[in-house]
Amino acid sequence: MIYSKDDIAGLNDLLEGKSAQEIIAFFIKKMGDKITFGSSLGAEDQIITQMLVETKMAFKIFTLDTARLFSESYELIDRTNKRYNIIIDIFFPDHTQVEEMVAEKGINLFFDSIDNRHLCCQVRKLNPLKRALVGRQAWFTGLRKSQSVTRVDMQIVEWDENSSMLKINPLIEWSEDDVWTYLEKHGIPFNPLHKKGFPSIGCQPCTRAIMDGEDVRAGRWWWENPESRECGLHKS
Ligand code: ADX
Ligand code: SF4
Repeated sequence: MIYSKDDIAGLNDLLEGKSAQEIIAFFIKKMGDKITFGSSLGAEDQIITQMLVETKMAFKIFTLDTARLFSESYELIDRTNKRYNIIIDIFFPDHTQVEEMVAEKGINLFFDSIDNRHLCCQVRKLNPLKRALVGRQAWFTGLRKSQSVTRVDMQIVEWDENSSMLKINPLIEWSEDDVWTYLEKHGIPFNPLHKKGFPSIGCQPCTRAIMDGEDVRAGRWWWENPESRECGLHKS
């Protein structure tokens, strides 16, 4: 089944009130290998991986390795593959693009300006995402409304303008508490940095621990305004 932009309202009506497992099973059954899952190995993504495994149907999963991740994240890729007997497909940035970028602007260019930061995310994440989505018609994400001011209006099913396909967010209504209750109840492997003040984990130089009471994504690109703290994977 192939869905278009015109199907979004109907799909959101149909899926309202359904559990994350039901949403995932619905799309895997309808779309097979036309849908894939982009996992950053974050807490939410680990839940979706577990739910995909539980469908007992074939599924595709990928991660974008920016080459600037925490060592804990690499270790978790390995642990997750072994735990679920799966292979997370890894997409790397184009080496020529990275080499040209760092030669011109420096290895840690992202601290110098928002334009540089966006360029680095473009080269290390958005361009590889395009390759990861070749041949697909939709992708699952672990987005939640309560993660940030930039995400409050998101829905279960969205149209991804960047890639001209559906984006499905099965955990969109989940709270941080829902995530941790589920992870712990099901013994799902997670990044140890989550227990050290890192609720949201991206690239190592652009992620820091948050303080009590801060927004869960306050540690991502912390030197920028909250409204600009997206890498472009999820423009609303
Ligand atoms: S980000 O856009 O700021 O990096 P965040 O880390 O909150 O986003 O992740 C939101 C969702 O985007 C994740 O649940 C996952 O579906 C997808 N995502 C983020 N980073 C990656 C990545 N490196 N590889 C694959 N998917 C990712
Ligand atoms: Fe580059 Fe930082 Fe974006 Fe990672 S999060 S791609 S290091 S700017």
